[in-house]
Amino acid sequence: MNRGKISNILRALHILYLIDWLHFRYEKIKYRKTNNFFCEQNPEVKLPPDYLLYESYQLNYKKYFTDGVESAQWLVDHLSKHVTLEGLKILDWGCGPGRLVRHLPLLTESCEFYGSDYNQKSIEWCKDNLSEISFNLNPLNAELPYPDNFFDIIYGYSVLTHLSEEKHREWYAELFRVLKPGGILFLTAQGKHYRIKLTEKEKKIFDLGDLVVRGKVKEGHRTYSAFHPESYMLKLFTKAEVLEHIEPEPVSGRGIPQDIWIIKKTM
Ligand SMILES: C[S@@+](CC[C@H](N)C(=O)[O-])C[C@H]1O[C@@H](n2cnc3c(N)ncnc32)[C@H](O)[C@@H]1O
Repeated sequence: MNRGKISNILRALHILYLIDWLHFRYEKIKYRKTNNFFCEQNPEVKLPPDYLLYESYQLNYKKYFTDGVESAQWLVDHLSKHVTLEGLKILDWGCGPGRLVRHLPLLTESCEFYGSDYNQKSIEWCKDNLSEISFNLNPLNAELPYPDNFFDIIYGYSVLTHLSEEKHREWYAELFRVLKPGGILFLTAQGKHYRIKLTEKEKKIFDLGDLVVRGKVKEGHRTYSAFHPESYMLKLFTKAEVLEHIEPEPVSGRGIPQDIWIIKKTM
């Protein structure tokens, strides 16, 4: 049976969260030895509590850390095609426990970094451990404390992927409010390469250009999933110029990469 179908049955029975929690316990056991080894070898690396790691990425310390370094460089490389990364204000929206943003000050020293997330525990950990970055706790609803036209760049790595249709629209408007005219919005989404994961019914919705949402769990949590047809995203991005839409090809053994959308605020 298609895994999407199984996950939808677990959602309908309201036990997906429980299954996901059991999966977390299983991963704790699976990675115990390698994670202990990583800590012994890298005592200087601060790591968030296990569930925060699991919830926002994967419970493999080495992968969490090295992928964070790689993702930060990958982000800088993409952004540098469109903007000079000097003296800018940059927001990581949906920063989780800082997997990516923690590495950015080393790559672009003259920029100011901010992180915001709706997960209180992640933001508490970030505030206590990543002192070079300013963190903010936001609600699930689209409300940020920053003034209009404040940021030069906002990025959200795998955040839209956990939100409803309504929240896509509301957050897009809020992110654009705090982004300067001419500023860059960088978002990832589960685009056409994720179609293979959908059930037949979901594929029909996707092919009509509508957002596919798998809910019935807490919105924003890793088990809440959204899938993004290109035409849906193009309709979402108003008052903007799409600078790039990249659909990276899947690489065997590395999971399906998310689409990259790089948008410029035009007014
Ligand atoms: C898959 S994790 C990605 C975390 C981080 N961007 C990274 O790449 O490691 C999704 C993140 O989005 C956050 N999130 C979900 N809904 C949110 C919202 N409404 N506002 C801010 N963050 C949200 C979650 O708390 C979580 O940290």
